[in-house]
Amino acid sequence: MTVQTIMGMKGRQRIAMITAYDYPTARLVDQAGVDGILVGDSLGMVVLGFENTLRVTLRDMLIHVAAVARAKPKALLIADMPFMTYETGVRDALRNASRLVRAGAEAVKPEGGQEIFDIVNNLVKFGIPVMGHIGLNPQRVLSLGGFKMVGKTEEQAKKLIEDAKALQEAGAFAIVIEMVPASVAKAVTESVKIPTICIGAGPHCDGQILVLHDVLGLTERPPSFAKRYVDLASVIRDAVAKYVNEVRSGEFPSPEYFKDIK
Ligand code: KIV
Repeated sequence: MTVQTIMGMKGRQRIAMITAYDYPTARLVDQAGVDGILVGDSLGMVVLGFENTLRVTLRDMLIHVAAVARAKPKALLIADMPFMTYETGVRDALRNASRLVRAGAEAVKPEGGQEIFDIVNNLVKFGIPVMGHIGLNPQRVLSLGGFKMVGKTEEQAKKLIEDAKALQEAGAFAIVIEMVPASVAKAVTESVKIPTICIGAGPHCDGQILVLHDVLGLTERPPSFAKRYVDLASVIRDAVAKYVNEVRSGEFPSPEYFKDIK
């Protein structure tokens, strides 16, 4: 899958993206047929146990992007640019994005709108595809005062449209719209020619993205917009409890699981 294929899907076929952070789950989500795999900085919350995404480092991302890339997914591999690895200027953004590309990313995702125009524009100009991210920007959680819906006022809605247009003009190939009222996400989607990918922003975008651990039932407090497709937490707990019982009872390992000298 290329960025051009994703761009060509607007108005033709809904785009399905999901996050993954390691080799085995990247293989599985790819086999399931997703169009894009995001190594999101949600890594910090759903894998590393932090309260937000601010403590995720470039080094963390490089390790997880490389692990996902080793699965050789057919899906487009997009990597989040962690907090303060691009906001400090074009030079830093180019240097850090290029490290993510060398680790296996085929595109990067910084957060923000008009204020990161130059950064997005330079990344694209020098060959690094960019997916934008507007609406709730989790990397701004401290100034926002929490993970809250964005775009409820007319002024905020107008700004979202301007942000989307700026990202398109800067050369982004797609835009994630997070936690925005559905009608506002629809207006944003209709205002740009590049695909929009919703998360908690309703059905009118060109595609959807969810965090894998929410979909699988592995997060303790998933957001209300995340649909849980399976309760993997129970499956894992039950399987491991069975193993513990069998070890304690001596039922495991039974003869088929070990060898002895004849
Ligand atoms: O970090 C992440 O997983 C994301 C998605 C929520 C879009 O940015």
